Amino acid sequence: MMKKINLPQAANLTSPNPVTVVCTQKPDGTTNLATVSWWTYLSFSPNMIAFAMAKTSFSGEMVRNNHNVILTIPSAEIADAVMGCGSTTGRNTDKTEKFDIALMEVEESAIKIPVHSRVAIVCSLKEYHEVGDHYLYICNVKQVYGNEAEQALFAWNGYSQLRPAK
Ligand SMILES: Cc1cc2nc3c(=O)[nH]c(=O)nc-3n(C[C@H](O)[C@H](O)[C@H](O)COP(=O)(O)O)c2cc1C
Repeated sequence: MMKKINLPQAANLTSPNPVTVVCTQKPDGTTNLATVSWWTYLSFSPNMIAFAMAKTSFSGEMVRNNHNVILTIPSAEIADAVMGCGSTTGRNTDKTEKFDIALMEVEESAIKIPVHSRVAIVCSLKEYHEVGDHYLYICNVKQVYGNEAEQALFAWNGYSQLRPAK
């Protein structure tokens, strides 16, 4: 039987939910990584995606300043590190160092991405909107990379565990 629940409870029922790593460039040139479940494809013509981040997130600040961001789908290999990137802010911490995440370069971007990525979507910020306690970042897609050999991660039990969907 259907009963009234709240939205966080709904997020539990829809689990496994998607997981991305939002990769941005810090003022010192290094890369910051943050775990984000709230993303979506928006349009295939032109190619567009969107993601939502808490107003206080450091990543959001970097996207609003630089207008460049890469969204990656991290792979099972780095599950623990991705969980770490979702509970630490990059404001005073180098997460790639702290969680020992190997990075690789992406053509025509100053932002690096985790080596263990199934998909990388290179974006430029088109616009952002205030949505309650988050900002919604609407992005144009500049380039997309994929690697079938890497197994995608999903968030289980709401957002409390990261593992593949099968
Ligand atoms: C599985 C998982 C999913 C998350 N999804 C989001 C999300 O969609 N939006 C968001 O703002 N924060 C999300 N977070 C929390 C951020 O990753 C966390 O606030 C992080 O510290 C932000 O880092 P930053 O300050 O370096 O940007 C998620 C965390 C986890 C573990």
